[in-house]
Amino acid sequence: MSTISRRTFLGIAAAGVAAAGIGVPFVRGIAGASSTGKVLPSRAPLPPPFRRRLTFPPVLRPTRSDATTDYYDIAQSVERATILPGLSTELWAYNGSFPGPTIRSRRGRTVKVRHTNNLPLPTVVHLHGGRTPQDSDGYPTDYVYPTDMSYYTRHHRHQQTGSGHEMVTGGDTRQGERTYTFPLQQRAATLWYHDHRMDFTGPSVWRGLAGFHLHHDDEEADLRLPDNEHELPLMITDRSFDTDGSLLYPSLDPTLVNQHGVHGDYVAGVLGDVMLVNGTPWPIAPVDRGTYRIRLLNACNARRLSLRLDPAAPSAITQIGTDGGLLAEPTRHDHLELAPAQRFDVLVDFSHYAPGAEVTLVNDFGTAAMGQVMRFVVGEGRPQTFKVPDRLSAIPVLRPADAVATRKFDFRAGDVNDHDGWLISQAPFSPDSVAAHVRLGSTEIWQLNADFHHPVHIHLSPFQVLARGSGGPGPFDAGWKDTIDLRPGEQTKILIHFDGYRGKYVFHCHNLEHEDMAMMANLVVT
Ligand code: C2O
Ligand code: CU
Ligand code: CU
Repeated sequence: MSTISRRTFLGIAAAGVAAAGIGVPFVRGIAGASSTGKVLPSRAPLPPPFRRRLTFPPVLRPTRSDATTDYYDIAQSVERATILPGLSTELWAYNGSFPGPTIRSRRGRTVKVRHTNNLPLPTVVHLHGGRTPQDSDGYPTDYVYPTDMSYYTRHHRHQQTGSGHEMVTGGDTRQGERTYTFPLQQRAATLWYHDHRMDFTGPSVWRGLAGFHLHHDDEEADLRLPDNEHELPLMITDRSFDTDGSLLYPSLDPTLVNQHGVHGDYVAGVLGDVMLVNGTPWPIAPVDRGTYRIRLLNACNARRLSLRLDPAAPSAITQIGTDGGLLAEPTRHDHLELAPAQRFDVLVDFSHYAPGAEVTLVNDFGTAAMGQVMRFVVGEGRPQTFKVPDRLSAIPVLRPADAVATRKFDFRAGDVNDHDGWLISQAPFSPDSVAAHVRLGSTEIWQLNADFHHPVHIHLSPFQVLARGSGGPGPFDAGWKDTIDLRPGEQTKILIHFDGYRGKYVFHCHNLEHEDMAMMANLVVT
């Protein structure tokens, strides 16, 4: 789409908002549900749970290192994997792996990752939770075009009549490859990287473009938390499969070239009916009678999770960290609620279970098979309990009195170019308009209102939750967050400290269907 037709797009969208006004029929009836979205039923038979072993993506080795920097290479390509028994699934993979290879970094060392795009379509890489200069943050139009452009040029329609705004110009694009630089001047935290191509993040991530990036620092190392085989990063994703094993996804434009968005029924979000942990359906994992550090990531496009252990862990689940790293002190939970993109770093002590106990990680927000995630089988051996430190980290508490500005944003359904879509304060995403100019080093209060569940993510600057409705932060809001689980009809207040770098960044809903259907806005740090 040219710049001119882009203006037309915005004009239509604005008219649509006015027309939509009251009543949003396509999302009626979902407000009470635990997830905003609709299940896309698989046509392949569901695999039996608890048969295959949990696996972990490989840890990526640097191709070289110098005094300050570790250099990595990742190639993005189409791969096949056996996810369902006897069937082969085409995936988009980082270095042939889904989840992508895990990068481990240490504060004080720069990470440079050269991504080569051997996929048929443009991609963008974003390090979620990273405090990254703008030119490496994966702005949605900073495309890395494919090494082989033939598919893209064959399918690309130059004169848009549809709603795609793929060809918005002005992005900092590359051909074939791009090196992203991550200074990682930030606390230890469970970060993750994933695709961020404008309008098509949902299908790209669904096909497999997501991986862990585990960042470490001295403060964390001093705690001597369980590591090696006692550290389990778990990427939880839901997917749906066709009879031949291929992934189902209800794109309006199955070529993923021109038109963004999904079919009407799924506008609220695509929910899969097969639960994958690190790419394996309902896996099983042997554990010994010790304490494990489990890093939970909800990498689902739209599904919210409510996780607990069954039978309950006698010592409960001890949360030690969240999106932005360690909490000030450990916090006990009997369950955890995770919105898409959120991370919870927890300790689970299996020493109180009897040898041979089967402990299921269940999801109380799911029904039928989606009510289960995976199973741990406790081994023999002597119990060995890790003594959880009383204090984990010193966390400065942001105060409302520090805020230099208060802004309000409304996250709601609305019309985007004659299609159902999602808006922030009545506007669909445009790379050209800025929703907030903020000053580097300042603190602001943002009031976020939502019609349904919207997991809102802000790039660059972690935040602290100040209030939900008339109450304080919820039980899962502690610590530095980068994604807040907005709930239907609730006003949430967060305190954001804008720190790091100047430049243009995005904030958006991390329900990836909402994001692709325009629920994103720009934030400029000056
Ligand atoms: Cu995890 Cu802007 O995204
Ligand atoms: Cu992000
Ligand atoms: Cu949303």
